[in-house]
Amino acid sequence: MDWGLENRLAKIINPRNNRALMLAVDHGYFLGPTEKLENPKKTITPLLKYCDSLMLTRGVQRNSVDPTTSVPMVLRVSGGSSIIGEDLSQEQITVSMKDALRLNASAVAMSMFVGSKFENQTIVNLGRLVNEAEEYGIPVLAVTAVGKDLGKDARYLSLACRIAAEQGAHVVKTYYCDHFEKVVNSCPVPIIVAGGKKIPERDAMQLTYNSIKGGAVGVDMGRNIWQSQNPVPMIRAIRSIVHGNANVEQAFKLYTDLCRENKSLKQQNKPKNQHKIKSNKANSNKSKTPSGN
Ligand code: 5RP
Repeated sequence: MDWGLENRLAKIINPRNNRALMLAVDHGYFLGPTEKLENPKKTITPLLKYCDSLMLTRGVQRNSVDPTTSVPMVLRVSGGSSIIGEDLSQEQITVSMKDALRLNASAVAMSMFVGSKFENQTIVNLGRLVNEAEEYGIPVLAVTAVGKDLGKDARYLSLACRIAAEQGAHVVKTYYCDHFEKVVNSCPVPIIVAGGKKIPERDAMQLTYNSIKGGAVGVDMGRNIWQSQNPVPMIRAIRSIVHGNANVEQAFKLYTDLCRENKSLKQQNKPKNQHKIKSNKANSNKSKTPSGN
């Protein structure tokens, strides 16, 4: 492996423990203003220091991330469909390698839709992206997207992951499933697990724990972090599993402790005479006329 490629990969997957915590915020590229990601900067800023890398589009990177950050960027370079369009699998490469370099991408990412109408197009695009990215020493993350009629089972996911690796992807993102070891064991490159739709916090911690135990290097998690009522405690709990070898009990305890701490900090920061202010306001309102004068 070329030095540059290996060095970039080491920024995403920590070589000391072979683990990775990627924060996914690229959802807008086909979903538009997803719930709790309406203002990407507001969502990303408090979470940034707890992730190893950030997966995003160039628009979000340029407009919502401070360029002085030291967090590595995994740049999504595919797109071309929307949630209301005809077929989500009709994606193309939309970002040039030149722009990825300008954005100092540590990796580029694209979706591959095995078993879909545009399977051929997305697999060929993956091969072409690898050709180009290898020239510049940039790793490629293949996102094995699942068509709406396909199950996220070990048979399908191992097919998709293996095809991605055969095309030269350096890391493959997939879903956790029963018999996950089958997916990991038949894929010669590291596997990172997507969080998927929002589920209860404890379940998302279990998914992270199971994924790591099953052989994944970590998670590329989005909605289960920033759609949580408590995004910072949530990412810290997930981090404790990925990098601290915490089990689900320990991670959930960390989460609840941090939530409690946040709550009491908020209470402490409330103005002490708030009650007084409120009752004074109520009195002064009483003296106002219905027109407010
Ligand atoms: C969308 C993606 C997302 O980055 C991926 O699904 C991870 O986010 P989440 O944990 O919310 O599923 O690649 O195509």
